[in-house]
Amino acid sequence: MALKYELENNAFLFQYGPAIGTTEFRESLASFLAEGYHSEVNKSDLVQTSGATSGLHLILSTLVDLAGVVFVDEYTYMIALTAISQFSTMKIVSVPLKDDGPDMARLEELVQQHRFAPSGKLFWGVYYTIPTFHNPTGIVFSEDKCQRLITLARNSDILIACDDVYNLLHYANPEQAPPKRLFAYDIEGLGKIDGWRGNVISNGTFSKILSPGIRLGWMECPPRCVEAFRQSGVLQSGGAANNYMGGVVSTMIQQGMAQKQLKLYSTKYAERLQAMLETLDAKLPKECTFSRPEGGYFVWIRFPEHIDCAEMNKYSMEKYRVSAVPGTRFSVTGEARNFMRLTFAFHSAEYLRKSVATFCEAARDYMQIVSSS
Ligand SMILES: Cc1ncc(COP(=O)(O)O)c(C=O)c1O
Repeated sequence: MALKYELENNAFLFQYGPAIGTTEFRESLASFLAEGYHSEVNKSDLVQTSGATSGLHLILSTLVDLAGVVFVDEYTYMIALTAISQFSTMKIVSVPLKDDGPDMARLEELVQQHRFAPSGKLFWGVYYTIPTFHNPTGIVFSEDKCQRLITLARNSDILIACDDVYNLLHYANPEQAPPKRLFAYDIEGLGKIDGWRGNVISNGTFSKILSPGIRLGWMECPPRCVEAFRQSGVLQSGGAANNYMGGVVSTMIQQGMAQKQLKLYSTKYAERLQAMLETLDAKLPKECTFSRPEGGYFVWIRFPEHIDCAEMNKYSMEKYRVSAVPGTRFSVTGEARNFMRLTFAFHSAEYLRKSVATFCEAARDYMQIVSSS
């Protein structure tokens, strides 16, 4: 019955679609997100993408001056750094990151220092970040930092491009709302703000909540950015990013399948996180500390200053056949030498208990070798 309906009504999905995605996809997505965020989401704010990576690329190429400045956290998603650095006329500026978000005084100073008038594009500068369950640190930006970021963005007219890719994977109170996305701070109380233009994009994806292979995502944007994307040559020529998959996922949302899958992932990942934290608590050398995220994919471990985690990784791979991602991978300036990122999303809890215990044994062994040499 459902198949017959799809065949009779949805053959248009094999054609080019509208630049920013079909109304059906954006409507279904708005209701899915509103339910997940416990917050209002308007279909008119949504632009379809083929994932957050494509979203970031569209943001940089469509909205930001080619001589523009990209502010990034001192530790950030490593492949975004590669994607950004390929805009070789843009400048990347690193911002110190604290436990509750960026060092605001420093960011404000840097924004003042680099500011210029953009020519032909909406923004001269963009702060690329991950405010909720940050990759790699797992932190969530505090309410105070979020408010200050909105004030800064409005006063200096920079864009804040948030990779909101883990927001719906929250484990502390799964029945309650996840941390509020920065976009919601920007649109709050709009009726009272003179000259509001909107400075935040929430760049989301189905990669972490359905599957990365389907290449489907969205950007939740202020109207001036939606309009710029509607005029994008890439989106117009491509006829929406991944029109076909947009139709498939609309049906999955309408039939409740996407919601069910999200629930399954959240339950599994919560168990896996617990297994990882318990093992680290029991077995990681006490000179190390680690984050206790309430969502996302990652635990961020701090080793003593003198430990080079890239070297430790080589050692543990060779001798114990376990590895993690060393901190320098996430740093534009090559710092974070004494940090490691572990991922708990991929393996079963049982597998993690064993492999994390081996990781801890390798770390202990390596730290002993280093301190006795
Ligand atoms: C912060 C962040 N942004 C983007 C991505 C990639 O997303 P997508 O598959 O939607 O391109 C990832 C995947 O690890 C990520 O951690």
